[in-house]
Amino acid sequence: LARGAAAPDLTGRHVVISAGGTREPLDPVRYLGNRSSGKQGYALARTAAARGARVTLIEANTGMTDPAGVDVVRVGTAVQLREAVLKAAADADAVVMAAAVADFRPLSYAEGKIKKKDGEEPVPVALVRNPDILAEISAERARPGQVVVGFAAETDDVLANGRHKLRRKGCDLLVVNEVGERKTFGAEESEAVVLAADGGETPVPYGPKEALADTVWDLVAPRLPAGAS
Ligand code: CTP
Ligand code: CA
Repeated sequence: LARGAAAPDLTGRHVVISAGGTREPLDPVRYLGNRSSGKQGYALARTAAARGARVTLIEANTGMTDPAGVDVVRVGTAVQLREAVLKAAADADAVVMAAAVADFRPLSYAEGKIKKKDGEEPVPVALVRNPDILAEISAERARPGQVVVGFAAETDDVLANGRHKLRRKGCDLLVVNEVGERKTFGAEESEAVVLAADGGETPVPYGPKEALADTVWDLVAPRLPAGAS
């Protein structure tokens, strides 16, 4: 299968993709967020649709236009993203978690804007852990044979960290990006290695996010259970 050839190998399949980055509100005007652009998730949605899939794209704060032929669900926070992913995953053949999920959220939300007062030191923000959506959907597959894919941006010993994360999360595939120069968040292109739970390792050379997306589907397609949904 040539990359980007859009072979309709996902016809009759339902795939769920999360994209963007969650924002965890502190008060009506402030949030804790991250730099995820959503471009990789949108590339996954476009390529899956081109390969014949029914696509549900759950997007968090990307501000991007809906891709043609894709069902888009908009969420803000990690808790909302979890609800939307669990709902959509119920009848999905594959779930790809490309979204950057905030690890923590503020313990409490201030209904009114937090104000500073003269001569007072700032109060530290208390945080609590967010649910780990990828670990949850991997541990409790909504249907037998459902394929679950995660993403990880790593530094230092990138592959060792990726292998460890793949095992910890329990997903089938983990797309590992090295964080560094020209591999910054928001870039048009990226480079990655896709690690598989069965031991496979697929390097993806530096290139458009569509090419990485097609490689992900090339690896997902043969792992899907026989017969379309
Ligand atoms: N993820 C998730 N829910 C979370 C955190 C992460 O579903 N609360 C998913 C992401 O969408 C991604 C994968 O898990 O597909 C890896 O995210 P990452 O932040 O690398 O994993 P963490 O377990 O949070 O590890 P770290 O401490 O390195 O941030
Ligand atoms: Ca994290």
